[in-house]
Amino acid sequence: MNNLINLVNENLERFMDTAYPNELFESMRYTVLLPGKRLRPVMCLETCRMLGGNIEDAIPTACAIEMYHAMTLIHDDLPCMDNDDFRRGKPTNHKVFGEATAVLAGDALLTYAPQIITKHSKNLGSDKLLKLLEEYFQYAGAYGVIAGQVVDIESEKKYPKNAAETLNFIHTHKTADLFKLAIRSGAIIANATDKQIADLTDFAEKLGFAFQISDDILDEISTFEEMGKTLGKDKTAEKLTYTNLYGIENAKCKLTCLLDECYDRIQESVVFKEIIDAIKKRVGI
Ligand code: IPE
Ligand code: IPE
Ligand code: MG
Ligand code: MG
Ligand code: MG
Repeated sequence: MNNLINLVNENLERFMDTAYPNELFESMRYTVLLPGKRLRPVMCLETCRMLGGNIEDAIPTACAIEMYHAMTLIHDDLPCMDNDDFRRGKPTNHKVFGEATAVLAGDALLTYAPQIITKHSKNLGSDKLLKLLEEYFQYAGAYGVIAGQVVDIESEKKYPKNAAETLNFIHTHKTADLFKLAIRSGAIIANATDKQIADLTDFAEKLGFAFQISDDILDEISTFEEMGKTLGKDKTAEKLTYTNLYGIENAKCKLTCLLDECYDRIQESVVFKEIIDAIKKRVGI
């Protein structure tokens, strides 16, 4: 796991350019290079490795997915969204660079990420490259993460009648879709069969869903030191989260079930088992 994280960090540093206008590139580099857990790029690389692919081939895509993730964090923290002051242990992007630059750095990352894929993955051939871009557009755009974020914001302070269904939609899209993008992309690069991709998509959906439940729980029970971000805000903001809707014990129970299922399905991967164990450990289950 640590060697994959190091590989991601080295390559992120390499891919994140500095150019004019400096403020824009500095703002992009700031959030991308702060020490996140790197879960999504690691999952992309590990899936590729697991299926017999060459990890080197997946590096640009894995790093691009982390860049996209950083843009979701920058925008998620803005005053018009979750209004958070800390991220990855440091002041949020807009606190350092101002709101306008933070919005624009997010915009820039949204296109910088697929540009990294096309620029550095030509060796994969145009068919595979097109497939990877289609995946990115499907899961990162209006049908994916953004849809989840919109419904998350819409549902604040006014739970809809079908709250359970809406919460499923939020978790599936704002979080699980990026897990799916990471894992499916790794599989595509490794020439996985349609059956393998379908099975892994199902796994990614469960793991991503579980991860957001864990994030909702940790918002209530963890500390700034542990998480590097301001906690306890989901309650005051009356967010439609798993803990707010079902209570912390039910949320832990659901999380345990989902993670156990994921664990059983990914026996062949030490790295995925480590990821699952780390989530359990953080939540204390
Ligand atoms: C935070 O993701 C956003 C959620 C989906 C909850 P991570 O917890 O993976 O954040 P980093 O990348 O480690 O900062
Ligand atoms: C964010 O969910 C998911 C995305 C950033 C797309 P949260 O709003 O719960 O994430 P945190 O808690 O701020 O990291
Ligand atoms: Mg949010
Ligand atoms: Mg947030
Ligand atoms: Mg959260």
